[in-house]
Amino acid sequence: GLPTRVRIHEVGPRDGLQNEKALVPVAIKAEFIRRLAEAGLTTIEATSFVHPKWVPQLADAEELMPLIDDVAARLPVLVPNERGLDRALALGAREIAVFASATESFAKANLNRTVDGALEMFEPVVAKAEDAGVAVRGYLSMCFGDPWEGQVPVSQTVSVSRRLLDMGCAEISLGDTIGVATPGHVRELLAALNEAGVMNDRLAVHFHDTYGQALANTLAALQHGVTTVDASAGGLGGCPYAKSATGNLATEDLVWMLDGLGIETGVDIGRLTATSVWMARHLGRPSPSRTVRALSQK
Ligand code: HMG
Ligand code: MG
Repeated sequence: GLPTRVRIHEVGPRDGLQNEKALVPVAIKAEFIRRLAEAGLTTIEATSFVHPKWVPQLADAEELMPLIDDVAARLPVLVPNERGLDRALALGAREIAVFASATESFAKANLNRTVDGALEMFEPVVAKAEDAGVAVRGYLSMCFGDPWEGQVPVSQTVSVSRRLLDMGCAEISLGDTIGVATPGHVRELLAALNEAGVMNDRLAVHFHDTYGQALANTLAALQHGVTTVDASAGGLGGCPYAKSATGNLATEDLVWMLDGLGIETGVDIGRLTATSVWMARHLGRPSPSRTVRALSQK
């Protein structure tokens, strides 16, 4: 059966904007986050405390945080290492996410580390966050396929997921970073994770729509019992360190499907669409989301 309620983890301001060529002014980012919260999103990933040379689009994290400290939503931020955690804690972050890779190639490209080296880098981050009462999400990229290594064995993804949970991550977000997954592969991975003791209430899914499969994959995950879904307003995003990645699943496409299924999200699709249309104007190109286009042409 399907769940009655789904929690949407909105990643537009972070995963979306990190991949935009244009540098978006910090005041526009703050307004974007505020409008997403007003549209009913309760978890909005705000920014990253990574090296500013690696992701210049989010180099204004220190300026952004004080502008959104009164926004009524959970506002997790990405943190790769202790340096990043210290920066985030100094700004009052209450939730963070570390980001691992299921493959060696992407660990190297995204974090300049081996898979093991990245996990070693996260260990003190997770421990220190726990001490500070800060919840940690663990992203896992390239869970299904990798642009350099091809199809990723299910056992490899299960093994790194287990290690992230054992380290103290509260939740694992399974990333199909380049959008190659199909529903059968999703079911197979989720079943193998459950078998290894990683249960659905600790899992989120993070699909990209490169091959038009993001919604079908999401539905497969919901039918399997997962209830947390990552999405990006207007379908913004991709990944700067994985060339073949296109946009994340658009939040509007997701909400349209969930509304139709009678599954609660708390999101007002009209306000959300208006926000994505507004952001698309700032970025100078139309939203790739089919739902945004359909609703805004009415
Ligand atoms: P490195 O070059 O190995 O860094 O990069 P290092 O540890 O050797 O340090 C070098 C210098 O950087 C030092 O400065 C550090 O202080 C500084 P120096 O002493 O030379 O003057 N430094 C920092 N400065 C500010 N903030 C920091 C920080 N850390 C070190 N946090 C590093 C390693 C992890 C830092 C780098 O690779 C990095 O920042 N990577 C982030 C890449 C990224 O953000 N990628 C996108 C997010 S992941 C993603 O999009 C996937 C996801 O969306 C899910 C999916 O779709 O799959 C989550
Ligand atoms: Mg993504």
